[in-house]
Amino acid sequence: MIAPIVRTLPELRAETKVWRKAGETIGVVPTMGALHEGHLSLVRAARAKCDRVIVTIFVNPKQFNDPKDLENYPRTEQEDARKLKSIGIDLIYVPDPDQIYPEGFATTVSVSGLTDMLCGESRPGHFDGVATVVSKLFLQTSADFAFFGEKDFQQLQIVRRMAADLDIEIEVIGCPTIREEDGLAMSSRNLLLSDRSRIKAPVLAEVMNDVRDALRAGGRMSEIGPEAEARILAAGFNKVDYLELRAGRDLGLLDTASEDARLFAAAWLAGVRLIDNIGV
Ligand code: PAF
Repeated sequence: MIAPIVRTLPELRAETKVWRKAGETIGVVPTMGALHEGHLSLVRAARAKCDRVIVTIFVNPKQFNDPKDLENYPRTEQEDARKLKSIGIDLIYVPDPDQIYPEGFATTVSVSGLTDMLCGESRPGHFDGVATVVSKLFLQTSADFAFFGEKDFQQLQIVRRMAADLDIEIEVIGCPTIREEDGLAMSSRNLLLSDRSRIKAPVLAEVMNDVRDALRAGGRMSEIGPEAEARILAAGFNKVDYLELRAGRDLGLLDTASEDARLFAAAWLAGVRLIDNIGV
């Protein structure tokens, strides 16, 4: 059965109130739609842990720093609902824009520190938009558990910080990145790649794996990094926003491998910005 789609907060709350009264746990998977296997793995994790599962689909204008990017973002609601059918979720929340940002909306949730680097540096305002919409979705759904992909590792850490700082009673669960057979991390943005770009795209993960191996063998990022960036560019990428080794917990910059180290990358390929990260 296709789960019912609700578009307003009163409709959403009418459902969640009944579940709460029955003592059922609620899991939420926040998405911007264009669902792929990565999203579906989050939904399955939610299904396995929670009595009730809500998937939210909202292309959040506040997290796009480029209006063209917002305009081009894939929107595939019917297809998304069809993909969710086989997992058997309880509700799809596709809020009308005024249910998230009513007239006069004037609040921004801003997490400092964790947002200063990586995507925060190259996409000013992006994480304020994310933290604002996710805090609203947490409060609107009153979920007990929220599921996010490690593919957006910085986002995951920011959301965890936000929920803890605002005393929102929700456990934020990170789930592993799902990859295509050739290693490319699954992303809704992959739909925007041309056939030619799609062939080049896995080079990002390939280079990252090589850097990880070199770091594990005792190499220093300051020495390995420049050559790795040059390889990404030589494969046809137009720009590397960052290729950095950082601590998973606080995203502090590192030069050598350690237990908590992760390698983060963002690079542009024919107008499409791809991001990825791996444990080192
Ligand atoms: O990762 C995403 O798709 C979005 O940033 C999120 C968490 C749904 C907030 O809009």
